[in-house]
Amino acid sequence: MKNFISVNDVDDVDELIKSALAFKASPLLKSTLGVNKRIGLLFFNPSLRTRISTQIAAQNLGLQVIVLDVDKDGWKLEFDDNAIMSGTTVEHIKDAAPILGSYFDVLGIRSFPTLVHKEQDDSELVIKQFIQYANIPVISLESSTLHPLQSLADLVSIQEEILQSGIQKPTVVLSWAPHIKAIPQCVANSFAEWMLKWNKANFIITHPKGYELNKKYTQGAYITHHQNEALAKADFVYVKNWSAYDDYGKVMDSYASWMIDSKALQQTNHAKIMHCLPVRRNVELSAEVLDSSNSIVTKQAANRVWAAQAVLSKILQNI
Ligand code: CP
Repeated sequence: MKNFISVNDVDDVDELIKSALAFKASPLLKSTLGVNKRIGLLFFNPSLRTRISTQIAAQNLGLQVIVLDVDKDGWKLEFDDNAIMSGTTVEHIKDAAPILGSYFDVLGIRSFPTLVHKEQDDSELVIKQFIQYANIPVISLESSTLHPLQSLADLVSIQEEILQSGIQKPTVVLSWAPHIKAIPQCVANSFAEWMLKWNKANFIITHPKGYELNKKYTQGAYITHHQNEALAKADFVYVKNWSAYDDYGKVMDSYASWMIDSKALQQTNHAKIMHCLPVRRNVELSAEVLDSSNSIVTKQAANRVWAAQAVLSKILQNI
């Protein structure tokens, strides 16, 4: 694996899940793989889980880790090739990235979408320019369209439940949730493409009209605007808000009734409840459901370490 920006960088999803579970059983399994190597984790946006889980994963592999909050501590970067830099940007990616490439062996980048400039977000301008100019492996810590480290942890969490319960082919429902502001489509896009490539579950997406995701990521999924229909079959419900893709970045209606609460949970097949976190309690998911034994959100977040460790291990094997 050279870079890790989507499921398309993964040859064998099952093998990567198994590797994550092996690291969970034995965190120091490959504790010397990264010795004398350094990873830089660059954050253009806030993070709790991704930041800390990736640091722990890197340290478990013997890597030195340096974290930079680019939005607070770095120079404001310019990504436009032909920019006349007389405005707020101070340093061009063409100048900054090669330097980072000389300091580090691997780079992790978190850069959210603008939710305004659709073509720019779809082109993955930021992460692709880091790949182009840093000339070292780049992993996505959530980009403008995808969040692959989250998705791998999600599949690891589902696989654990499958192994425990013995369900052969569970039904996994990605259910749109209400929110108070415009949220990226990254987690939903990414979860959809990982589920579809993995193909170990019946996968259903449910959302109100107008919240269709980019078809590029959902081709092959069963999609319904009737949440009840989806919940009736659910062994897992992944609760997640996203803003509109067609009417880009818009929040059209709060659709408060789409919140998953105890009544909604009762319609399911005793479903396990998932969310990538952070979650707005009693807006996206009721506190009662979050605090119930059906919720696996904490386990899901804990699995971020093992997902990151599996990915970093694959990348380190190639450098
Ligand atoms: N789920 C997730 O990526 O969490 P953070 O934004 O806290 O990293």
